[in-house]
Amino acid sequence: MKAIVITKYGAPEVLKLQDYPTPEISGDEVLIEVKAAGINRPDVFQREGNYPAPEGVVADIPGLEVAGTIVKCGPDVVDFTVGERVCALLAGGGYAEYVAVREGQCLPIPGDLSFAEAASLPETVFTVWSNVFQRGKLKAGEAFLIHGGNSGIGITGIQIAHALGSQVIVTVGSDEKGQNCLELGADSYINYKTQNFETELQNEGVDVILDMIGGDYLAKNINILKPEGRLVHINAVSGSRVDLDIWKVMTKRLTVTGSTLRSREYEFKKQLAKEIQKNVWPLIESKKFKPVIFKTFPFSEAAEAHRLLEDGSHTGKIILVR
Ligand SMILES: NC(=O)c1ccc[n+]([C@@H]2O[C@H](COP(=O)([O-])OP(=O)(O)OC[C@H]3O[C@@H](n4cnc5c(N)ncnc54)[C@H](OP(=O)(O)O)[C@@H]3O)[C@@H](O)[C@H]2O)c1
Repeated sequence: MKAIVITKYGAPEVLKLQDYPTPEISGDEVLIEVKAAGINRPDVFQREGNYPAPEGVVADIPGLEVAGTIVKCGPDVVDFTVGERVCALLAGGGYAEYVAVREGQCLPIPGDLSFAEAASLPETVFTVWSNVFQRGKLKAGEAFLIHGGNSGIGITGIQIAHALGSQVIVTVGSDEKGQNCLELGADSYINYKTQNFETELQNEGVDVILDMIGGDYLAKNINILKPEGRLVHINAVSGSRVDLDIWKVMTKRLTVTGSTLRSREYEFKKQLAKEIQKNVWPLIESKKFKPVIFKTFPFSEAAEAHRLLEDGSHTGKIILVR
């Protein structure tokens, strides 16, 4: 098969279209003929050598999510058959013509979505559901702050939280990006380049924060959380070593938590997929949540697609299609 290979760690041009052995399947795995693969920030970290694939996962083909058609099923597969259109969460290997994945990480493509739209969903939807709704326990009527509202994670978080009845506030790097977030269902935005989110939110406070920034955002996040508030980390791009005022955590009875999805065990991902099918897929079918595609590229232009992601001017997902 053909695949996009990280030929060495470095800039986007290290991504090259090459011949690669087609994966073998066994047990409860399915073989998907990939029609579209989503691009995520962690793919860039992996290409640069800062986010290695977990053990047992193909190390030199990036790609955490795909959509396509099942062309082969292992002997223990019970929920899917050959010919079904699916999207799947992967721990790597998605920028390829074929990928093998255990059936519990696959979901039927919801509604009338295209392969490109379906490929944009798994990584962000799994991350948002597990961190915001399972760990953060966000409920209808609560105020929810998303840092990086315009990110792939942000646009998914805005739409699901809005559809389920929360008040959504986002931080963004420009008013144009803020406007995009309002159109997706955010109630308000804070431009982090011209405003201080702590000052803006210190009176009203928020119940749940999804943070990928860390660093000096931690103290500000702690200050604006309401009593019983929850702070959930999915990255710490400004630094993971921080000063935490434990007294504030105690007096406001706060929860500080976080997680990384990629390295989680199969059973966790399988259960999460079931919850998503039950809670999020109906929002897509009723058009309350729509995938947002910024641009598609042929697989052979994966390097160009990475350049666009790194440039940071996009709103919505960047997808490789064949
Ligand atoms: N833990 C997990 O399991 C998990 C899973 C998936 C992703 N992630 C993490 O989630 C993050 C988002 O991923 P993605 O693929 O959605 O990325 P992305 O689309 O590239 O977005 C990165 C975002 O960071 C925002 N940002 C940068 N500096 C900021 C600041 N000082 N304040 C507020 N926002 C700021 C940018 O906002 P502007 O463009 O508006 O400037 C941009 O929206 C990444 O850090 C990724 O590693 C974690």
